Amino acid sequence: MNILGISAHYHDSAAALVVDGVPVYAIQEERLSRHKGDAAFPLLAIESCLQHAGIEPDELDAVVFYERPMLKFDRILTCALRAFPRSWRAFPKAMKNSLGEKVWMRGIISSHLGVPGRKVLFTEHHQSHAAAAFLTAPTCHAAIMTADAVGEWTTLSVGEGERVANGPTTIRRFREIRFPHSLGMLYSTFTAYLGFKVNEDEYKVMGLAGYGQPTLVEQVRKLIRRTPDGAFTLDLNYFEFHTTAERSYSSRFIELFGPPRNPYEPIALDTAEGQRFANCAASVQRVLENTLVELTRNLHQETGLPDLCFGGGLALNGVANARILAESGFERVFVPPAPGDAGCAIGAALYCDRIHFGNPDRELPDHPFWGPSVDGSELARLAQEDGHFAAESQDGALIDQIADDLAAGRIVGWMEGGLEFGPRALGHRSILAAPHTTQMRDRLNREIKYREPFRPFAPVVPIEVVERYFDIPPGGTRLARFMSGVFPVRREWRSRLQAITHVDGTARVQVLEPAMSPRLHALLEAYGRRTGIPVLLNTSFNLAGEPIVNRAVEGYSTFLRCKIDVLVAGGTRVMKRTSATAKTQVDKIKQEEIA
Ligand SMILES: [Fe+2]
Repeated sequence: MNILGISAHYHDSAAALVVDGVPVYAIQEERLSRHKGDAAFPLLAIESCLQHAGIEPDELDAVVFYERPMLKFDRILTCALRAFPRSWRAFPKAMKNSLGEKVWMRGIISSHLGVPGRKVLFTEHHQSHAAAAFLTAPTCHAAIMTADAVGEWTTLSVGEGERVANGPTTIRRFREIRFPHSLGMLYSTFTAYLGFKVNEDEYKVMGLAGYGQPTLVEQVRKLIRRTPDGAFTLDLNYFEFHTTAERSYSSRFIELFGPPRNPYEPIALDTAEGQRFANCAASVQRVLENTLVELTRNLHQETGLPDLCFGGGLALNGVANARILAESGFERVFVPPAPGDAGCAIGAALYCDRIHFGNPDRELPDHPFWGPSVDGSELARLAQEDGHFAAESQDGALIDQIADDLAAGRIVGWMEGGLEFGPRALGHRSILAAPHTTQMRDRLNREIKYREPFRPFAPVVPIEVVERYFDIPPGGTRLARFMSGVFPVRREWRSRLQAITHVDGTARVQVLEPAMSPRLHALLEAYGRRTGIPVLLNTSFNLAGEPIVNRAVEGYSTFLRCKIDVLVAGGTRVMKRTSATAKTQVDKIKQEEIA
């Protein structure tokens, strides 16, 4: 049975293909269209899925959209009418957005793919999140929590999932919290207030929080009230996101926290104003963590289960995840590599397979590499045409050479195997570098990533030695499998791991098992033999404002446009000749792409 899952029209569209109960391929539209956060109907991603499996649209048994458009429309309409006349400005925009494409999704999918309307199915947004978190996790019985800004109406849900090997699957929802009461909207409101992009830059708020003190927790507490049933409500006097598209916070919010940050001004952390913004970030982060810990603690008591599966955009908050693991009572916390809306494409397809069609449970591969494979020979051809020295070698020799490069302080663009699905580079489209000095961090920020100085880099470490360098609790390695937890760097190693140690002594560590990425694991070991520390800095292979690279040509183009010293794709290694020649080569690639 072939089931295609689609998420689209909010941010980060994606498609995923499930064949006989097992995901075989998934990709975000942005990785193909090269438009970051592409929210368009994911035609390229769908085509890529079908091409990978060698099937035509008429061989699809079902196409599942990740939310119910009519329910979402109902929410938008209800909120607009409830807020009338204040909402009159936003009303036409909201209606145009909703009526334009989203409500008529069955017809749109049907006409784009040429499949009959009866094959187009819908799951609820948070059902998709729950399925993506639970059905891909190696656990048979777990509590489930989903939390984001909003789906149709739901903003947070708790429940339980159970599956029997080769047998039936159940996913039960106990309770939900509904719009406009939303932890995600609370966090996004601060994201906007702090001058960052909503739905995109929430992780910058978490990064900035490390530089502040939670001095404004009492004020944030005025915005969110816990209710006797264990849920919460927002005090809507402080918000405007439910009535207008123009601004998410109200004048009362500004009275409480002061003037918002101008997005075009840099954050000067050594000034009182800069510190105020860092303290705001630290305070909303603390309140978010405390609320999630309380909710998950209650859920643990209620279910008595050792495992929690956590999905939705809020599950990208690695600091909160680590606190949930430490304080909720759950022994293991599973966060999928794509907990946000892109991951709903896999979730919707799996939910449809197990629940709608009642197909038996299947053991699923436990990795994030669902996209297209990179072609090393394509890189060799491009580089040789430009007169770069491209060497193709066997694994052992190549890995020794790259370990030498890294030990010599060279920055390496590393591409291998299938592209990661989800926002994080987990070793298949990564920039790797020595993690030891602040000079390396500054060089990467200045010359390659062009980004704010407070943004930390992440490390990758083999599972066998993680406890030597990081203070990671039992169960933490699971959370760190897909870089979903933030944990302290051991004090005695911080001076030798400066480039990946955040200002508060923590790191968003990726713990690597050999089976997940054998070549990267071998590289870490080879690097350890040279330097005594088998830890590398691992940051996503992209420039600011661009999506993570996918094909060899995109890696090559990025390599030429920034100060990456060495590029690897599969078994091919290319070293930069001179930076002076780079521009003509970029022009050549652009011309090729246009042609
Ligand atoms: Fe969502």
